[in-house]
Amino acid sequence: MNRRLKKLKIFNLFKKSKKFSIKWSNYFQIYEKIFSKYRNKKIKFVEIGVANGGSLFMWQKFFGKNAKIIGIDLNPKAKQLEKYGFKIYIGSQSDKKFWDDFYKKEGKIDLILDDGGHKNLQQISTVHYSLPHIKDGGKIIVEDTSLSYVKKEFNNPSKYSFINYAKNIIDIIHRRSPLLNRKLNLYAKKIYLVEFFESIVVFSIDNKKCFFNKEINNDGKNDGAIDYRHNEYFKELKNKMDQKYGLMHKRSFFRKIIRKLLYRNFMFNVLDNFKLKKIFKEINK
Ligand SMILES: C[S@@+](CC[C@H](N)C(=O)[O-])C[C@H]1O[C@@H](n2cnc3c(N)ncnc32)[C@H](O)[C@@H]1O
Repeated sequence: MNRRLKKLKIFNLFKKSKKFSIKWSNYFQIYEKIFSKYRNKKIKFVEIGVANGGSLFMWQKFFGKNAKIIGIDLNPKAKQLEKYGFKIYIGSQSDKKFWDDFYKKEGKIDLILDDGGHKNLQQISTVHYSLPHIKDGGKIIVEDTSLSYVKKEFNNPSKYSFINYAKNIIDIIHRRSPLLNRKLNLYAKKIYLVEFFESIVVFSIDNKKCFFNKEINNDGKNDGAIDYRHNEYFKELKNKMDQKYGLMHKRSFFRKIIRKLLYRNFMFNVLDNFKLKKIFKEINK
């Protein structure tokens, strides 16, 4: 593992930082993957959780001198790091008023990384109150999400864990499909992509990419290929029918009856579910 880590620029900067910092070892490969394209750009990067300031030095070196590095911490001692050129805000990540003031002063930002208190309300507040203020093409990154499964200090697993909140967002981004017939709220309009790594969740923000979806055809020749989705059971009989009647039988009354019996029979769902149960059991071993 160490050899692989040593090849990563961000890991070397972490090791060389003049102040103490502590991160999980899998984070560095994720940082390289998600942050590389922002290097040497004029960006605003925010980290919640400053502690000794070690990671702030790492970020400044990684993103370059055009990046504004901002730290947020509840501990007022963090303010002393401003002498190194960082901008530090003192306040709580779970306080709505703090975020209102923060974004009034800073305006829109590119990247926000949460390495703060890691409690459900703290992590969820970061995403919830920051979402309207992230630029298109930006990201919200939440670290230590494994704490969604930890009882001691974090009161998890819980219905209101950060991971459950993030799973909800998976449902919300699917509202962009017209098949769901749902309204697009702010989350559906802004979160383009959610990535789950071990202990890190990344939300990619891009309003322009979050459009209400629609199906589109090309101009290729349609040979009337039939979707065999429902041909799993009574395979041979159905195949014969489809070959014989092709698309024609789709419109007849006869086809409707046959389809009910042979294609959409609820028994097939029962059989599917039986197989699915086995797979679900297997992956949770
Ligand atoms: C894990 S440390 C941060 C480490 C730092 N990012 C590093 O890598 O060196 C967590 C920090 O979050 C701060 N913190 C805890 N709860 C907070 C809250 N509600 N709002 C803001 N900061 C908080 C703590 O004071 C602590 O300094």
